[in-house]
Parts: sequence; C-alpha cells; structure tokens
Amino acid sequence: RAFFKPIQSAAPPSPTKRHSKISVIGAGNVGMAIAQTILTQDLVDELVLVDANPDKLRGEMLDLQHAAAFLPRTKIIASVDYAVTAGSDLCIITAGARQIAGESRLNLLHRNVALFRNIIPKLAHYSRDSILLIVSNPVDVLTYISWKLSGFPSNRVIGSGTNLDSSRFRFLIADHLDVNAQDVQAYIVGEHGDSSVALWSSISVGGVPVLSFLEKQQIPYEKQTLENIHKEVIESAYEVISLKGYTSWAIGYSVASLARSLLRDQRKIHPVSVLSKGLYGIDGGEVFLSLPAQLGRGGVLGVTNVHLTDEEAQRLRDSAKTILEVQSQLGL
Ligand code: NAI
Ligand code: 2OP
Repeated sequence: RAFFKPIQSAAPPSPTKRHSKISVIGAGNVGMAIAQTILTQDLVDELVLVDANPDKLRGEMLDLQHAAAFLPRTKIIASVDYAVTAGSDLCIITAGARQIAGESRLNLLHRNVALFRNIIPKLAHYSRDSILLIVSNPVDVLTYISWKLSGFPSNRVIGSGTNLDSSRFRFLIADHLDVNAQDVQAYIVGEHGDSSVALWSSISVGGVPVLSFLEKQQIPYEKQTLENIHKEVIESAYEVISLKGYTSWAIGYSVASLARSLLRDQRKIHPVSVLSKGLYGIDGGEVFLSLPAQLGRGGVLGVTNVHLTDEEAQRLRDSAKTILEVQSQLGL
C-alpha cells in the first residue's frame, strides 16, 4: 500500500532543476566544519564525504544524518571508495596532514603532495566537469599540483587561499574602528601564509576609502599600527592552533561562502588562489596565489584589476617568489 494517496493533478518533478552534488574529501576538523556549514545553508541536494579512515567516516556521516529533522533535506553519503563522488559539481579537498603548534604550512608540503597524487586523479576520473576547491595546506602549492594532476582548465581549479585571512583582517579592522566587519572591504592577497600581503591602499568602510580619509582629515596614523594588524592576521592561525590544536569554524564558513558563489553563480568577488602568472608583473613560473577573483558556476570568471601601490605590488611578487621556491623542491 502506497504511503501517500495519489493526487491526479500533481505535476511531475520539474525536469529543469539539476541535481547538485558536493564531495568533501577529508572528514577531519576542517572537512566536517565545511560539511556542516554547507548543510545549514541548503546549498546542495547531495553531500558526499570521503576519508581514508572508514570508522571515523561512518561516524561523521551518521552524526550528520541524525540532524535531518533540523536541516534542509540533503542526501548525505560517505565512502572510502571515490566512485561515490561520481558526477560532483564541486570537490572540496581537505584531506591530509595539519600543522602542529609552531609548524609552518609550507612544512606540510611533501606529506600532502604524496596524498594528492593519489586523490586528484581519482576525483578527475569520476567528475570530469567538476570544480576543484583545494583547502589542505600549503594551499597555494597544492592548488598548483591539483591543476597539473587533474588536467583541468585553470578556471576550474581554485585554492581557498586568503578568503580566510581576509576575513580575519576585516574582523580586526572592524574591531579597531568599531564597525561591522561586513562593511569593511579589505583584502589580503598572495600566499595563504607567512608571506601574505595586506592591501592597505584599497581598504574602504561603507564606501569611504580609509587611508585617504585619515590623510584628508589630517588624522595621524602609525604605519606600525597597520603593520601590527597584518602581523596579527598572520599569527592568527598559529595562535588558534597553539590553543585548540587546529582551526575549523572560520575555514568552514569561508569555504561554504565560496561554494555558494560557485554553485549558485553569485559572481561575487573573493580573494582566492588562482593561476597568477603574468599578473602584476608576477613572472618566474606558473604559480597559484590569492587575488580578488570573481566566482560563478564556471569557476573563476576573472581577476579584479585592483590598484596596488608599488610597495604592495613588490610584496606580491616576493610572495609569489616564496611559493615558487617551495614549488621548485618538487621537481615538476
Ligand atoms: P585532520 O587531521 O582533522 O583531518 C585530516 C583528514 O584527512 C583525516 O580525517 C584523515 O583520515 C584524512 N585523510 C588522510 N589521508 C587521506 C586520503 N588519502 N584520502 C582521504 N582522506 C585522507 O586535519 P584538519 O584539521 O581537518 O586539517 C586538514 C587540512 O586543512 C590540513 O592540511 C590543514 O593545514 C588544512 N587547513 C587549511 C586551511 C586553509 O585556510 N586553507 C584552514 C585550516 C586547515
Ligand atoms: C588557517 O589559516 C591553518 O591554514 C590554516 O587557519
């Protein structure tokens, strides 16, 4: 006996609505924070989790499934077998080693490259048309590796980059000026890490350019104060890791916001890691680093032509050099 009585006039399911699917690879602190934020935002029809540890994976899957009565309806599945990712619109990769207290992101390189050599070809095989969004560290180099290993066009291979650092920056500026962080437009660009670059010249609050406002009002500001805010951004992750062992909530929201812009074709601008060779005088090789980029259903739609001072442009090129030096150790 059918559960529902048939209703004669009921319309058949709309053929125009596409089933959307996100796969999250790595069900650790970061993967699960991303998964749970995506679920609360009703972004997809199907969420897939993949991890190398089957017990942890099943435990995380069940725990999320048990929230079904409180969440938008989403099919949640998990497997150690990558076949489960087939036909994904977006694959988010968070698998791999993380830093211990005081360790730099770049130090994770060799361990995580080895994992990516195993993971990326499988994802590319099962989801030829997917967008790859890399989160594992060092994120800029791993995004480059993923581009190479997948054979995907560069607009469909993106690193979460400084979307997170920029949020930390906006939080600190907002706190300093006692305004809402969402009204602060400010970018950190370059490496997601120690050589990142703060774009002070283009910061605005509610449409008011901050530095030229202070200058016009003849309000003195110390360059050191600005440097200290940037230093605090760079030290943020180290501090959180030394206190709780890992970072998770902010990266969860950061990546969910990227997933929304990509899958919902929001055409929003986010500072993310993109192929940057030839931009702002960056030369010396193919390098992924963060620049403000417009994101939509096709992936990276373009990079904003933001004005940089000579000093900012030089710092950006230095950051590119740092990443390229690390990349050269890989002998690719
Ligand atoms: P975690 O140790 O909690 O989780 C890593 C997961 O990867 C584990 O569940 C492990 O079983 C899984 N894994 C290992 N090898 C695998 C494989 N071959 N296939 C599938 N899964 C595999 O680590 P956590 O805290 O989640 O961090 C993950 C990564 O994210 C680290 O590299 C960390 O540095 C990075 N991260 C990046 C951020 C960013 O802004 N880009 C922010 C925070 C962390
Ligand atoms: C973060 O910035 C550790 O890359 C990680 O939170």
